[in-house]
Amino acid sequence: MDDGERWVRVASAGDIGPGDMTPVEAAGHSLALYHLSDGTWHASDNTCSHAYALLTDGWLEGHIIECPLHGGRFDLRSGAGQGAPIEADLTIYPVRLDGDDVLVLL
Ligand code: FES
Repeated sequence: MDDGERWVRVASAGDIGPGDMTPVEAAGHSLALYHLSDGTWHASDNTCSHAYALLTDGWLEGHIIECPLHGGRFDLRSGAGQGAPIEADLTIYPVRLDGDDVLVLL
């Protein structure tokens, strides 16, 4: 791609069950990878947009991730913050599967 984006393998799909999440490092990014209970995959920055906390230390409920520090919530389908104390949306990244490989577009 001419804008520098590329698909990067970040995990094996079989290692992350539905309803689970894991931190991953890829191409200098600290990411959170989510396998939602509906079977879809999502990725975001792992650092909360509010202050410093890792979202993978928080709680995953459906398509919502809740930050462990102040309880801020984000919709993983869009990155949209779900009210106070969140003022900035979360950066999310496209995810696709290639066999057992989970790829994120960075
Ligand atoms: S650091 Fe995440 S809600 Fe405050």
